[in-house]
Formats: sequence, structure tokens, C-alpha cells
Amino acid sequence: MNYEGLKIPNHVAIILDGNGRWAQNKGLTRSLGHKAGFDNLKKLSLYVFDKGIKYLSVYAFSTENFKRSIEEVSFLMNLFIEKFNKEFQAYKKENIKVVFSGRREGLREDVLMAMDKITSETANNTKGVFNICLNYGSQYEIVDAVKSIIKDRVDEEYVTIDLLNTYMYQDLPSIDLMIRTSGEYRLSNFMLWQMSYAEFYFPNVHFPDFNNEEFDKAILEYTKRDRRFGGIKYENKSN
Ligand code: FPP
Repeated sequence: MNYEGLKIPNHVAIILDGNGRWAQNKGLTRSLGHKAGFDNLKKLSLYVFDKGIKYLSVYAFSTENFKRSIEEVSFLMNLFIEKFNKEFQAYKKENIKVVFSGRREGLREDVLMAMDKITSETANNTKGVFNICLNYGSQYEIVDAVKSIIKDRVDEEYVTIDLLNTYMYQDLPSIDLMIRTSGEYRLSNFMLWQMSYAEFYFPNVHFPDFNNEEFDKAILEYTKRDRRFGGIKYENKSN
């Protein structure tokens, strides 16, 4: 779709929900659902950056996801390694910087190595920033930021919103549009700090089916939203 005349968000965040149900509906294993989710994520992310969106954050694995079966967790960890090492070369070529948000503690050494490799290989890229939340929990992110601020002995007068931004796992601009697929209306501990004024969009499709056309619909809806950031806009209003 041509995005001319549409509002382009600067930072889009997506909760990649429904891989399991997508697979189950087709009589497939959950693992195949995660694979299909990744294939879709790759196509969609490249499309999103081509449309001029500068920041894309995705929820790939939450701190709570470790409560899933050992088989599923280990499948996902192996999938991350395989994809970061091979398919993420596409982001290198497309000039997209890959960064990660989340706690390193608790992640396997081989996963951390694959994350660090793609991070350093794309560190100087400038077309956009792809932020992957892995072993991520937003409340932990805020706790970790506060701990670091205390450790750094920052004076009370310097504790501002801008300063806190710099203490988050990544220093990112606010999220403009948050999408959660599969018809669930929850934030599930995802980027609460960055989402203070985000517009929310909840499409009724599972993530593997949230393709480029579905993303176009989200942008059309976002264009219609009237964002006031707590202020009042009187134009076109009767009072
Ligand atoms: C939640 O929905 C989804 C996940 C926990 C995994 C999301 C991961 C991917 C799409 C792969 C991303 C890969 C890389 C390399 C970044 P669910 O699958 O639990 O769905 P359900 O609620 O229907 O069971």
C-alpha cells in the first residue's frame, strides 16, 4: 500500500501473540507456529522499515515465558540462535541496527553469543532500529534502571524522565503505536514506561497471519486517531 498522506509512527511495538493457537487451528505443533511466526516477523519487519518507521520493538520472549515446558523454551532458544546467526544477515544488508532489551541473567551462553554477534555486526547501521525484547519484563526493566541510578549515586535533582530513558535497557523514543495480535487485550508487562502515550491496536488475527496488508490496516487506523498527549485540541470541536 502507498503510505502517502498517512501518519507514519516513529516507534511501533508488537506483541507477537498467537503462534501456538495458529498452529493448533491447523493441527500443527506449537513449534511450527513459532517458526511461522518468525517467517512472518522477518517479512513484516523489513516492510515496516521500508515504510519509513524508524523503531520497531517486538516481544519475542518474556521473563515469564520460562514457565513454559522445557521443550518449548529450548525450541525457542534454539530458534533464536539459528535465526540470529543466519536470517538476521538480512538486517545487516538492509542497514538496520539490531538491539536487545531484557535481562542477560538466565539466558544460555550460546543464545547470548548469537545476540552479541548480530548486535555488534549491525551497530553502525542507520536505516532503523529493531529492538528485540528477549527475557524481558517491563517492571524488571524499571527496577534495574532504579538500581543502576542508585549505584551511580545520581543526585536527586538529576532524576528526570530523560535520565530514566537513558537507564532503560535501550534508550528508545516513546512508542507511538502498540499492536497485540490474536484478540487479547493485555500488555503482559511489555514496555510500560515507553508506552505512556501509545495508541493501541488489537487485530483479531494470530501473529503468523499478521502480514503486510494487516499492518497497512493498523496504519490506516493510526492515521485516524486524534493524539492529544493530555492537552486539549479545540479545532473542529464545538466547545
Ligand atoms: C506468544 O504467543 C509468542 C511467543 C512466546 C514467541 C514469539 C516468538 C516468535 C514469533 C519468534 C521470534 C523469533 C525471533 C528470532 C525474534 P504463543 O505462541 O504463546 O501463542 P498462544 O497464546 O496462541 O499459545
